[in-house]
Amino acid sequence: MTVLSSTVKPLPPLTIGEFTLPIPIIQGGMGVRVSAHRLASAVGYAGGVGGIATVALSLASKYYNKGKDYYKANIKALADELRLAREISPRGIIGTNCMVAIRDFEAMVRTSLENGAQFIISGAGLPLRLPEFAAANPKAALIPIVSSLRAAVLIAKRWHKLYKRLPDAILFEDPNTAGGHLGADRPSIFSEAFSLERVIPELAQWSRKEYGDEIPIISAGGIWDRGDIDRVLALGAKGVQMATRFICTHECDAAQAFKDAFIQAKEGDVVIIDSPAGLPGRALSSPFTRKLFRGEDVDAKCFATCLSACLCRDQESTFCIARALHQAQQGDLENGLVFTGTNATRHTRMTSVREIFEELNGCTIPPTGTPADGSIGG
Ligand SMILES: Cc1cc2nc3c(=O)[nH]c(=O)nc-3n(C[C@H](O)[C@H](O)[C@H](O)COP(=O)(O)O)c2cc1C
Repeated sequence: MTVLSSTVKPLPPLTIGEFTLPIPIIQGGMGVRVSAHRLASAVGYAGGVGGIATVALSLASKYYNKGKDYYKANIKALADELRLAREISPRGIIGTNCMVAIRDFEAMVRTSLENGAQFIISGAGLPLRLPEFAAANPKAALIPIVSSLRAAVLIAKRWHKLYKRLPDAILFEDPNTAGGHLGADRPSIFSEAFSLERVIPELAQWSRKEYGDEIPIISAGGIWDRGDIDRVLALGAKGVQMATRFICTHECDAAQAFKDAFIQAKEGDVVIIDSPAGLPGRALSSPFTRKLFRGEDVDAKCFATCLSACLCRDQESTFCIARALHQAQQGDLENGLVFTGTNATRHTRMTSVREIFEELNGCTIPPTGTPADGSIGG
């Protein structure tokens, strides 16, 4: 391991369930297909946890046929993504992000595990039945995303009572800064009560007191540089989840136009939209969001029946989120919705996953596995 900086010390490894992460960084799942096999394998290879977002994964795949057999297509597309990620990074840790709010949540969890996912990270609702869906794969790490201590306590108690197991870690996502759907209603997004400064110490104290520190706390939202990581570790977190930081990497699975929108973003370009999921979402200002704010018509025909409860499908209001996220991922920013965290404007150039890990860790990364296609690196 080559030391690159005399001032930045290597980050401490983190054990979550059966797994030890050489570097305590989880890459946050980014749907639709912003984090698929390329980004996830690169992060796993670099010593973190790579995360494939499972939502509507089939939309850009050969399996998708105008909504016909959408759920079956998602299963096939997810199996492909996991296989490809594993081919590129044979020994890296690869997980999936499965949202409770999507109709095929159970199928996405089961398919992930049947195809070798080692971590399941699950939010957008309380993943109360997650251990049941994962029962055949007891070694996989199950990690709920929460926005409060209350939610963490509820999940841990329910899992213990019904399934005799605990979450392998709890991931707190700060609605003040995180990207995508936010775990707080509009008036509470910027509330101090949901801030990581408040909730991380509460969660860390709860884990220590109730479970002898057995449940590591992971902090997500607004983490960009080593200073941010050190700050949340000092508050009691054992690791971080980062998403926005990985968007302008060569390995990120979105189109170059999607990444360029971040490099061009300016102060004031991060907005809050109302998603058909009934939650606020943080996004980059774009022709699409400007149309939404002006109250102009946007494409609102349900594209994929992806959500369990959807204002677009069920009440013909708002817009089709699967279509909007898919179009952005393909580079169509006129009609596409670009999710982002508050750090969007910090992107100034393209980079690589390796470069980010080396900057954050202060030394060359301890690679886990061989990048079979030679695609990973700076
Ligand atoms: C483009 C984008 C898409 C996202 N999609 C999902 C998703 O599908 N499921 C999910 O649980 N979180 C999603 N998130 C949230 C991230 O996984 C992550 O927790 C959050 O953005 C962390 O904050 P950061 O972006 O400031 O690092 C998304 C975030 C972004 C930026």
